[in-house]
Amino acid sequence: MCFAGVRDAHALLMNGAPAGDGVVRAITAVEDDPAYCSVGYGGLPDREGRVMTDAAFMDGAGLRMGAVMSAEGIKNPILAARLLCGRETNCLLAGHGAERFALENGLEMRSMLTDPSRARWLDALAEGRKKLTAYTGHDTVCVLALDREGRMAAGTSTSGLFMKDPGRVGDSPVIGSGFYCDDRYGAAAATGLGEDIMRGCLSYEIVSLMKRGASPRDACREAVEGLSRRKKELGEDGGSFSVIALAPDGRFGAATTLDLFPFAAGNDVSVALYCVDFSPAPVREARPTDLEGVD
Ligand code: GLY
Repeated sequence: MCFAGVRDAHALLMNGAPAGDGVVRAITAVEDDPAYCSVGYGGLPDREGRVMTDAAFMDGAGLRMGAVMSAEGIKNPILAARLLCGRETNCLLAGHGAERFALENGLEMRSMLTDPSRARWLDALAEGRKKLTAYTGHDTVCVLALDREGRMAAGTSTSGLFMKDPGRVGDSPVIGSGFYCDDRYGAAAATGLGEDIMRGCLSYEIVSLMKRGASPRDACREAVEGLSRRKKELGEDGGSFSVIALAPDGRFGAATTLDLFPFAAGNDVSVALYCVDFSPAPVREARPTDLEGVD
């Protein structure tokens, strides 16, 4: 979902912009587009028909983060998260506090419910309560960036699980679970069922594996397979989650428990769409896909 945003962010970074600007550029593109029904404007409502968003931003140079959770009406939650990043205290705000912070700092507020998202909510109400699942056509946008100065940044944004309970928060604004970024060792972020991802603190686990020498690809695979295996040992399914990682030297990787997980990545030469699939080890290399038809 963020190919166009990554392409724009890539152009910014190639022109010397800081990593954080690239992250925000790519994520706001997704937040503003109602076609992406799980992020920002037109996001998926909770049980009460309200679009409640979670977003986070982390600056890998200072190990600072900012996040908003369960926030309503902030047009670009990632902008609020970035503004909060750098504060020594009060950098993670929920609900009313997050909304007031956005207003006081001049961020645009709007109703995030569109006619299609309201229609989805009404359809789901009519169908009655079902098991909540991730990846039924939706999830988080996660962006990791490395700039020409070697600075890194990470960001996430989502409306969370469709038909979630009011106040439910997933992994996306939770440091170490939905995202982590340290200029020295790398960055990682996760999408999928937040309740699973938080149990494995997946993003910190990946950066920690890179710190111990793993490549981004191996770190992603080890973290995903480790949590999936542990869940199975507990008699559960293998979970629904996918991760991306970026090393300070520009290498990147991804892993998933799904059949297929697409992601976009750029380097000095180009931006391309890649995908990984779930295959028992050895996992296949991430590979460029046919870009025909991709805007
Ligand atoms: N991964 C997003 C969520 O569970 O809310």
